Amino acid sequence: MDYNQIISYIKDIYGTDGFVPLSVPQFIGNEKKYLEECIDTTFVSSVGKFVDRFEEMVAEYTGAKKAVVCVSGTNALHMAMMLVGVERDDEVLTQALTFIATCNAISYIGAHPIFIDVDKDTMGLSPKAVKTWLEANAEIKEGTCYNKTTGRRIKACVPMHTFGHPVHLDELVDVCKEWHIELVEDAAESLGSFYKGKHTGTFGKVGAISFNGNKTITTGGGGMLLFMDEKLGEFAKHLTTQAKVPHRWEFVHDHIGYNYRMPNINAALGCAQMEHLEKFVLNKRETADKYAEFFKNMEDIKFFTEPADCRSNYWLNAVILKDKQAQLDFLQQTNDNGVMTRPIWELMNRLPMFEHCQNDSLENTIWFADRVVNIPSSVRI
Ligand SMILES: Cc1ncc(COP(=O)(O)O)c(C=O)c1O
Repeated sequence: MDYNQIISYIKDIYGTDGFVPLSVPQFIGNEKKYLEECIDTTFVSSVGKFVDRFEEMVAEYTGAKKAVVCVSGTNALHMAMMLVGVERDDEVLTQALTFIATCNAISYIGAHPIFIDVDKDTMGLSPKAVKTWLEANAEIKEGTCYNKTTGRRIKACVPMHTFGHPVHLDELVDVCKEWHIELVEDAAESLGSFYKGKHTGTFGKVGAISFNGNKTITTGGGGMLLFMDEKLGEFAKHLTTQAKVPHRWEFVHDHIGYNYRMPNINAALGCAQMEHLEKFVLNKRETADKYAEFFKNMEDIKFFTEPADCRSNYWLNAVILKDKQAQLDFLQQTNDNGVMTRPIWELMNRLPMFEHCQNDSLENTIWFADRVVNIPSSVRI
């Protein structure tokens, strides 16, 4: 099939004859001003007003009771695993259709992922599939969930809101409650995405956001932990700052802590970006509407739209091709002609570090992996 019409359309909406990247940042506000302020005042590192301000801005926007900045989304996830009590040799339910960081964070603890299928309408972890797998493979003993085959404790469940589309959170919260499993949301991609009016990352015990350069807003590199439990958030702040006991000059630490705190200079960028977040999300949703309209009547290629009851940030737009061959042809033609597109990540269960892990049929996961391609999604200013 010839994808020229699609290539022209994408170039057209991004207003260029040249190269169209997948997802690049936009700096249209106070970024330079705040960065200069950091340099002029010398507050570029671990203390400074932008750190607190950035946390407050994200907490206010998401409705979280507390937000804690980290150096990356990956170490925010690592911290989240520790905060919900995941320990070495525990098991964690998650999706195979995710970016590697989700599973790396589980592995840093010495815990093991179990891969469960995604839903066709969200591309994220399926509560039904989780329930079915637990009913067949798990049991509760004295209030703790165990895997009947391995004997290991199943401590947590980590859904990922794929490309910004929220998973079925109400159902997942219920399943986790029923099976005494802690819910941690990998909301790395979903800043600006709401499920039934509530921001993603605020349904589980902890949520983790990423501000990597390709995300809806960026701090260069960075992450944020979201909490509805303020006390847990305060403890997270303590652990991410080397667990230092506050004192004017003494260096006393009361836990194994981490140097996971975002520097002020990155937070300065974050504050400037937050000032435009809602505008960026609305802009991305407009682009998604354009794509939806354009692909509406195409037989062999469908545009993936937000699940019911959700407002997705459409971080990365996705199309679904007819089959694996069509996916390869589409990738080849678009990338050969200056439109950057990418397939979905290699599935986690196919990577050497995780191929021994348990999984269910992963039927929808494999279906998506063979068909999904991300198309340009940057904010169009
Ligand atoms: C699903 C998912 N989880 C975690 C991360 C990790 O975030 P970071 O790159 O900020 O470490 C990312 C993105 O980069 C991601 O897409």
